[in-house]
Amino acid sequence: MSRLVVVSNRVADPRKVAAGGLAVALAETLNETGGLWFGWSGNIVEGGTPGEGELHTQQAGPATLATVDLSREDHDSYYQGYSNGVLWPVFHYRVDLADFDAGYIAGYRRVNQMFARKLLPLLKDSDTIWVHDYHLIPLAAELRAMGCRQKIGFFLHTPLPPPLLLATIPQQDWLMRALFAYDLVGFQSEVDLSHFARYVETEAGAQPLDRHRFRAFGSTLEARAFPIGIDVDEFAALTHAQEARDTYASTREEYKRRRLLMGVDRLDYSKGIPHRVRAFRELLAQYPENRHSATLIQIASPSRESVDAYADIRRELEHLCGSINGDYGDLDWMPVRYIHRTIARKRLPGLYRATQVGLVTPLRDGMNLVAKEFIVAQDPADPGVLVLSRFAGAAERLKEALLVNPYDTHGTAQVIQQALQMPREERQQRHQKLLQRVRDEDVHWWRRSFLQALAAAGG
Ligand code: UDP
Ligand code: G6P
Repeated sequence: MSRLVVVSNRVADPRKVAAGGLAVALAETLNETGGLWFGWSGNIVEGGTPGEGELHTQQAGPATLATVDLSREDHDSYYQGYSNGVLWPVFHYRVDLADFDAGYIAGYRRVNQMFARKLLPLLKDSDTIWVHDYHLIPLAAELRAMGCRQKIGFFLHTPLPPPLLLATIPQQDWLMRALFAYDLVGFQSEVDLSHFARYVETEAGAQPLDRHRFRAFGSTLEARAFPIGIDVDEFAALTHAQEARDTYASTREEYKRRRLLMGVDRLDYSKGIPHRVRAFRELLAQYPENRHSATLIQIASPSRESVDAYADIRRELEHLCGSINGDYGDLDWMPVRYIHRTIARKRLPGLYRATQVGLVTPLRDGMNLVAKEFIVAQDPADPGVLVLSRFAGAAERLKEALLVNPYDTHGTAQVIQQALQMPREERQQRHQKLLQRVRDEDVHWWRRSFLQALAAAGG
C-alpha cells in the first residue's frame, strides 16, 4: 500500500492539536492512516540564512513528523508576507488588504524550493503526496523540476475568488501554471470549483476536456470539490468526556437562566466578528427583552498577530465590545464576554452544548469546521440553533441552519431573534437533518474521496 505524505505549512503533533481547521483535519487523517507529515517546525531562526533550515524528525503516534526551521527573513516574506499578506486576503475577497508591492514573492519561491529540496530525499517511489493550502501552491512544480514522478494532489482550504479578483495578484500566471504540475486539485465548494474553471478557461486559455479535467501548459489537471468534514465519532466522544461535561456544567451554573450565544474563531478579519458583535448590539436595541437575559461569549483565538490587519481587527473588536458593555451592561450582567485566548479543543463541546445560538458568521470562509462541531455537540433532545453565514463554504450543504448575510446587521439581528424563539420541535427537526449531513461528509469521507480521485487521476 502506498504511504501517505502530507505537506502543509502548519504541522502539529496529531495527538494534541491547537486551533486551525487545517491542522485539526490533517491530524485526524494522519492518526488514521499513519505516514509522513512535512512542513514548517514553527521555529524562526533570527539571523538564519534565507533558503536554509534545519530538518527535524520525530515520531508522533502513527505519523512521522519532518519539519524545517525558517530563517527570520523567510518567515517574514514567505509566511507573514506573501502567504498571509497577499494570498490570504485576496482568496478571502479582501483585495483592499493585500500588500502587493513589498516584494515578498522571492521569499515565497525560495521557501517552496527549500521545502522541495528537503522533502525529496525522504520520498519513496510508491508514496502518494498530498499538499495543502495557499502557502505551497508551487511545491509540485518545484518537486517535478527535481525529478519527482509520484502522484501529487493539492487541496485548497480557503475559498478561491472569482477570476477578476484572482487577476489582481501580479504573479497570477505563474501561480496558475504551477497548479498544473499537480495531478488533482481539490476545492472546498462547487462555487470555488466554478471560479477555478472560469479562471483557467478565460485567463489561462485552458481547454476543458470535461467538467473536471482541463488541459493547459502541456499538462492535464483534474479539479473537483471535496468539502472538508470533521471526525464526527471523535467529536461526539469528546462531547461526552469528563472535560467537556465539566465545562458544560460550570458554564450553565455561571449563566443560570441566561440564554447564551457563542462565537468561536481565530481572530481573523475574514470571520466577521465585529459584524457579529454589531448584530448582537442591534438585537439588544431592537428586542429589549434580551437585555439582562442574553449573553454573547466570543472566543477569539490569537492568530498571525504580527500582520497589521490582524492587529487592527483586534483593536476594533476590543473597542466595540467595551462600548456595548458600557452602553448596555449592568451591575449583574455583561452583554459580551470577549475572550482573546485559544480554548482547548476538549473543552469546546461543553461550551457548544451549553449554548442556545451558535454564531458562525464569517464574511468569507473556505468551509468552517466550528459550524460542524457545534452541530455534533448539541443535545438532540434540546438542541441549540446554528446561525450560519451564507458566505461560509459550510452553507453550501448545511441548508437547515438559519442562513444570514453578515453584512446586513439588522437582518442578522432578526434571524438571531428567530433562533432564540424557535420552538423545540423545529430545532429538533433542523438539527437531525444537519447532523446527518455532517455525518455523511465527515473527515474520513473527505480523505477517502480525495485520495481515490488522486489514485485515479491522470493515469
Ligand atoms: N479551535 C480551538 N480552540 C479555539 C478556537 C478554535 O480548538 O480557541 C479549533 C476549532 O475547534 C476548529 C478549528 O480550531 O476545529 C478552526 O477551524 P475552522 O475551520 O472553523 O477555521 P480556521 O481557523 O481554519 O479558519
Ligand atoms: C486556516 C488556513 C490554514 C492555517 C490555519 C491557521 O485554516 O487555511 O492553512 O494553518 O488557518 O493559521 P496559521 O497561520 O496559524 O497556520
